[in-house]
Amino acid sequence: MMIQRRALTFAALSAFALFFSCSAKDKKVETDPVKTVANTAHITPSIKRPALRNPNVSVGGVYNSSKVSYSRVPTNLPYIALTFDDGPHPQNTPRLLDMLRERNIKATFYVVGKNVKVYPNIVRRIVAEGHEIGNHTLTHPNLSKMSSSAVRRELNAARDSIIATCGVKPRTMRPPYGALTSSQRSWIYNEYGYPTILWDVDPNDWKKPGASVVASRILNGTRNGSIVLAHDLHKQTIDAMPATLDGLLRKGFKFVTVSQLLSLNGSTAQ
Ligand code: NI
Repeated sequence: MMIQRRALTFAALSAFALFFSCSAKDKKVETDPVKTVANTAHITPSIKRPALRNPNVSVGGVYNSSKVSYSRVPTNLPYIALTFDDGPHPQNTPRLLDMLRERNIKATFYVVGKNVKVYPNIVRRIVAEGHEIGNHTLTHPNLSKMSSSAVRRELNAARDSIIATCGVKPRTMRPPYGALTSSQRSWIYNEYGYPTILWDVDPNDWKKPGASVVASRILNGTRNGSIVLAHDLHKQTIDAMPATLDGLLRKGFKFVTVSQLLSLNGSTAQ
């Protein structure tokens, strides 16, 4: 009898201990900090201060486009437009935006409509930080091989996704691969008011030649009125940006958006 009672007491104590240990264990899980691996890939590299800073530029914004397509804008003023295509990208674009913000640089993003739908918050951040959004189609096809109605569907869907996401209407378009016939450029300009925006500086960053090569190609190729092509889809392109941006600022260039650059068309210094 005595042995039985002791056994029962032992069993009860064991059950209590087990219950207590489970509770304690659960509590521990709740209060422990969540441990995650540090993700240094998304942190903007520190830059030696004082930072080079783009001046506040109050040129145009309203332009009378005299041409249906541009690869640069003729001017002897030191204004340039940096363009980033094919995003937004979930890591690279926010990292790029940090770098631009640190230097007060405004750029133009030719976003792909299907990516706009996947990363709407990044599109909203692009607009909130003063950059310009351009139409780069919905699915990034070669428009020069497509019917007018198919081209229209691509441009409409991209435009509508941009407007629905950030409330801004794109003012220019860039054809994927730069592929657009001259008659297509004309009817798109007449129908949408979009000048076709190409480029005069192409670092071929999509071939991933290395960040320092991307930077030196842009630094060597950029002149007054240049439109620089780059892709915020590629990590290497973003890696090239601190040296590229600071190098261009050091050369005295002032960054404006594509629409601002177009408004300077033909402007010359006094
Ligand atoms: Ni593209």
